[in-house]
Amino acid sequence: MRNVTTDNITETFVSYFGEDTDPRILEIMRSLAKHLHEFAKETELTHEEWNKGLEFLRWAGRITDDKRDEFVLLSDVLGLSSLVDMVHSSPEATSSSVLGPFHISNAPPRDKGADLGAGYEGEIILVEGVIKDTQGQPIAGATIDIWQTAPNGLYSSQDPDQDIYSFHALFTSDENGRYGFTTVRPVSYTVPTDGPVGDILKATGRHPWRPSHLHYIVKADGYRDLVTEVFPDDDPYLDQDTVFGVRSDLVMTYIKQSAESFPDTGYELSGKVNEPYSKVDFDIVLVKAH
Ligand SMILES: [Fe+2]
Repeated sequence: MRNVTTDNITETFVSYFGEDTDPRILEIMRSLAKHLHEFAKETELTHEEWNKGLEFLRWAGRITDDKRDEFVLLSDVLGLSSLVDMVHSSPEATSSSVLGPFHISNAPPRDKGADLGAGYEGEIILVEGVIKDTQGQPIAGATIDIWQTAPNGLYSSQDPDQDIYSFHALFTSDENGRYGFTTVRPVSYTVPTDGPVGDILKATGRHPWRPSHLHYIVKADGYRDLVTEVFPDDDPYLDQDTVFGVRSDLVMTYIKQSAESFPDTGYELSGKVNEPYSKVDFDIVLVKAH
């Protein structure tokens, strides 16, 4: 093309692709270019603004390392991570929700009833539920990877005072599909604001808060993996999660219980709880893998 114009640049871009281009790559690149080109035309993007955007990406690259990923955060605050989750969520399954940047692989396996909050001050919560299929049948042997903030609002990878696997655990559902554990209630927290993503939030008058949540990755043979979160229904940031992770089926009531009602057996804390705690019931539905 010797006469590239604002009208033909998108199709010209696609026409330069080789004949052997993978069809999915072609589809994604064509759509990406179409929307990117439309964006520049619609906003009449100036050179100065475009350069600011490039500087933003350079800064995001500089600040990203093996412990901090500014690009995941950017995707999260733009709503892209949640959109990808929702596009691929099955309506029959528990909703998926953002993975976020703080998951750590190889969390230590723990027995049903274990306590994640040992040594930390905070409200005890007892979390229980059943992993089941879309027919309501329990799934035994599912793995449930859990992670959360400490009461100071930090994940272990952000906090040199925590062991790296603090508030991370891998449970397995029992023969009735049940899982259960205790921990201290995670707190609302802010996403990091000292990098370029923080500048976007400031420039658009947005707060950086996420409502309290427990992260889950649930896997079972023959079923689709589920990445999700559970939120308490009394959190002040529930209606304005800065990463758009809240779905109504993930919001649970944390029910206050007296110390005397804590189960006598089956939990690491059985016989040791002498203050009110909260009970959280969170059942999870998995769909079959195709
Ligand atoms: Fe989180």
